[in-house]
Amino acid sequence: MSGIASSPLDPFAPDFLTDPYPAYEALRAIGPVFALERYGVWAMAGYAEVEPALKDWKTFISGEGVGLNGMNPALPKPLTLQIDPPDHDKGRRVLGRTLSPGVARKLRKTFQKEAEKKVSELIDKGSFDAVTDLAEAYPMKVFPDAIGIRPDGREKLLAWSTFVFNSFGPENEIFATSRQEGLAAQSWIMECCARDALQPDSLGMMIYQAADEGEITEHEATHLVRPFLTAGIDTTVNGIGNTLLALAMHPDEYRKLHHRPELARNAFEEGLRYDSPVQTFFRTTSRNVEIGGGVIPAHRKVLLFMASANRDPARWDKPDRFDVERVATGHVGFGAGIHACVGQMIARLEGELIFGELARRVKSIELTAEPKRRLNNSLRGLESMPVRVTAA
Ligand code: HEM
Repeated sequence: MSGIASSPLDPFAPDFLTDPYPAYEALRAIGPVFALERYGVWAMAGYAEVEPALKDWKTFISGEGVGLNGMNPALPKPLTLQIDPPDHDKGRRVLGRTLSPGVARKLRKTFQKEAEKKVSELIDKGSFDAVTDLAEAYPMKVFPDAIGIRPDGREKLLAWSTFVFNSFGPENEIFATSRQEGLAAQSWIMECCARDALQPDSLGMMIYQAADEGEITEHEATHLVRPFLTAGIDTTVNGIGNTLLALAMHPDEYRKLHHRPELARNAFEEGLRYDSPVQTFFRTTSRNVEIGGGVIPAHRKVLLFMASANRDPARWDKPDRFDVERVATGHVGFGAGIHACVGQMIARLEGELIFGELARRVKSIELTAEPKRRLNNSLRGLESMPVRVTAA
């Protein structure tokens, strides 16, 4: 393929997804860019290539889809994620205003109260499943409440986003098993995004205010509430779950956090670097790209291994070490450039508050059985993580 080395590895195969890090090391060793033979696409796994590619939106475009299979022309054009400037700017502006640092400050009090309630309940239980009872339960309460979504039926949110994130990969068995439940949740998701279904004074209603002011249409408002539900839940659930697992597997790091709860925000950031919830996204080249002594032709799919960039020893000192004091700034777990996660303030707020509360009130977290992975074509997360906690 145009003078570029290739790999037979399948990054969407169950073995690869179960423990991708040794494979990432092998892929980085191939060179700055390589082809994935099985899918006939190009890929990059080093920080020095992935981070600039994320920022170079003119060359590595999102408008032809951030999945393997491009956009379905029968579906309405998205207003965020899979869209390029100038069309990207309007939706991004409205979402950015809705998810601003000022808004995060207003949500802090409620999110903190819920974190206290959740941790008290878990200390009383002593032993529990840290995925369902904590990593899922906390974000599934605070975030949909903030958007203004009704309390019943929220389990459909996970089915829906699991399906969407799977759809960015190939039509493999993993994708197939999420299809039925995901599609069944779709109409409920759209109902929740309607103006009449949202609570007053909610983030969802802030989007409709932009419609009232003529900045976007009513139809566009509905389609801008939806990304909250698609991109804002499973990602945070997996970020909290993966960080919890890292803390449970590294008791010395948990001890540091327990003694200095003010490290909570940093520990969560390090969790996002160390075991990134979003592992990969595709881009499409808009022109021939000369790279690594070869050429990626125009209009080709390129897979960006963000989670591999976050473990690249050329960028990070001892990258395979989970270190709650590390300065993890610059990781690409939230992406980079114009599509960098618009919800990162909210995700960080949730991480800071739940890990801060745990750190203050829990002396130790022990695994009581082997955790189980939940495989997804783009996300890295857990199915279950039985733990026991000891109160401080
Ligand atoms: C974009 C990760 C939480 C909404 C992104 C991207 C990543 C990411 C990697 C970049 C996509 C790309 O470059 O193609 C995460 C992680 C989260 C998280 C790891 C939690 C730990 C959230 C939350 C929301 C959200 C809470 C809230 C609504 C979005 C949206 C985009 C995005 C709308 C598209 C932005 C654009 O195209 O301009 N996220 N996200 N995410 N995220 Fe997040």
